[in-house]
Amino acid sequence: MSMLLSTADYERAARRRLPRCVHGFVLGGTEDGASLRENRRAFDDWQFVPRGLNDVSQRHTRATLWDTEYAMPVGLAPTGLTALVAHDGDLALARAAQAAGVPFIISGSSSVPLEELMQAAPGSWYQAYFPGDRERIGRIVQRLQAARVRTLVVTMDTCVAANRENNARLHFNIPFRLTPRLLLDGALHPRWSLGVLLRSLATRGVPRFANLYEEIGTPITVEPPQGFRTGRDQLTWDDMAWLRQRWDGRLVIKGVLHPQDAQRALDIGADALIVSNHGGRQLDGTVAPLHALPAIAQAVGHALPILLDGGVRRGTDVLKALALGARFVFVGRPTLCGLAVGGVEGVRDVLALLQQEIDRDLALLGCAAPDAVHAGLLRPHPRAQWPHPQTWRPDAGDAGVAPATGNP
Ligand SMILES: Cc1cc2nc3c(=O)[nH]c(=O)nc-3n(C[C@H](O)[C@H](O)[C@H](O)COP(=O)(O)O)c2cc1C
Repeated sequence: MSMLLSTADYERAARRRLPRCVHGFVLGGTEDGASLRENRRAFDDWQFVPRGLNDVSQRHTRATLWDTEYAMPVGLAPTGLTALVAHDGDLALARAAQAAGVPFIISGSSSVPLEELMQAAPGSWYQAYFPGDRERIGRIVQRLQAARVRTLVVTMDTCVAANRENNARLHFNIPFRLTPRLLLDGALHPRWSLGVLLRSLATRGVPRFANLYEEIGTPITVEPPQGFRTGRDQLTWDDMAWLRQRWDGRLVIKGVLHPQDAQRALDIGADALIVSNHGGRQLDGTVAPLHALPAIAQAVGHALPILLDGGVRRGTDVLKALALGARFVFVGRPTLCGLAVGGVEGVRDVLALLQQEIDRDLALLGCAAPDAVHAGLLRPHPRAQWPHPQTWRPDAGDAGVAPATGNP
């Protein structure tokens, strides 16, 4: 791994290591990939204006969220179906996060039972894909309490399945099916077939949806009897208010892009929100989280921590998000690429690369710690189409778009 010098290097290596259908699932987006591209591009719309001759000799990358100090303001976003990326992928991610001193969010679509993951990394958060049925939500919450989960993340941007055409084209479907095309793909990637597929089948059997509901669910090759999304499209903020009454741990709402939803999260008593468009994997053509961030920071200020994910690949990306009002960021694909290439060690290496970059970038920006980064160290790129907040009014009704003002 000595010549893997950046998360982009890991992404290229992961593409070679994984069958096409698996790296298509991990690295792809939805429909035309507009959100996926925009998530990365948004970071180029901002430029640093660094300060010099500041004493940064005592600098550190640590960041505190609630009562916990982490090694850096970066965590692992929830990612499902990692059993297809590495043997016991969820466990490897949990162990790497624990060793690196950063938060790990267990995905509702993960395959290693959450009780086992909580033992490997006791401070882990759990991300729920709740069904629209309060009785079942109550039973899932009981399971989380028994496993000593303290931070519950509810993903709000998946009320229906996304249109992932790239998966369909590569014959990657959920429930997962072994088609002749997939078998050929696997045969061309023997290291994956032996080290991931066959090893998983031999040790744990077909990976399961172990953490979607209150019980260990069906294998990923079978649709759960109650379906994947049973009634998820009925969930509302009232359910979140109801959940707030029953869940005494921390509650985090993931998938916020609109400042009025940020306000709703604050109103129902959430402890944090994650500005996210699911890594460009749900509604195509959404605003990039980085571009959504300033209006959200303006709406909820310092009333609750604002977290962000989507397109973060460099230490400089982390610092730009912090300057625009995020307290913490999460990464999805970079750590999955580390996982594909080197298991626990690969994930640790990706996290170490990000931490080294943050350390160096902080110094070059003139800051001794992440919480010293502020908006005055950034300006819009002269060629950026952003920000033009006057062209959009969050309170403009359903369309959310103000009449044309002649702004570009
Ligand atoms: C392969 C994959 C699986 C994902 N699974 C989940 C999931 O189970 N739950 C969830 O809330 N988000 C899921 N996400 C979205 C991530 O939590 C996160 O929002 C996104 O990956 C961040 O963007 P990035 O990949 O550019 O860092 C998944 C993303 C990927 C790439």
